[in-house]
Amino acid sequence: MTDTPALLFVCLGNICRSPLAEAAFRKAAAEAGLAAEADSAGTGDWHVGEPPDRRAQATARRHGIDISGYRGRQVSARDFHRFTHILALDHANLDNLRALRPRDATARLSLLLDHVPGQEGEAVADPYWGDETGFDTTWAEVSAAAEALVAKLQARS
Ligand code: 4NP
Repeated sequence: MTDTPALLFVCLGNICRSPLAEAAFRKAAAEAGLAAEADSAGTGDWHVGEPPDRRAQATARRHGIDISGYRGRQVSARDFHRFTHILALDHANLDNLRALRPRDATARLSLLLDHVPGQEGEAVADPYWGDETGFDTTWAEVSAAAEALVAKLQARS
């Protein structure tokens, strides 16, 4: 019997990419009947307490998910004991998380797209400074990762 998986998705601001990754994972886990916990956080603190970017909210809504109640928070060293897996959306996030990781961390840290066959080593590009279409690309990438993560976690239990 394995522990319930608890996944934390981490980007820079916690208002664009990681809330979408959290939403996509929650949806994929629910559809697969997988019991799992999910949360998201940012390495930066600019958007703590804020809801996701309106464009991220609209993207999630198009896929049937309401993320208006999510609130930004900053990742902390404690998260390395609260979660079983921490997924970084890009390489800068991964570097920042490695610097924050306590020596006795129990969470497994990885790059999100390393879980998607054919996209290993790739980053989920930041859509914040672009137009709305960037959010569709983000959704496609985080959804593929969510499906792959659910499949891996199911194979494990
Ligand atoms: P995210 O996008 O990391 O995908 O949430 C960003 C949101 C805000 C900022 C940077 C990235 N910012 O600099 O405020």
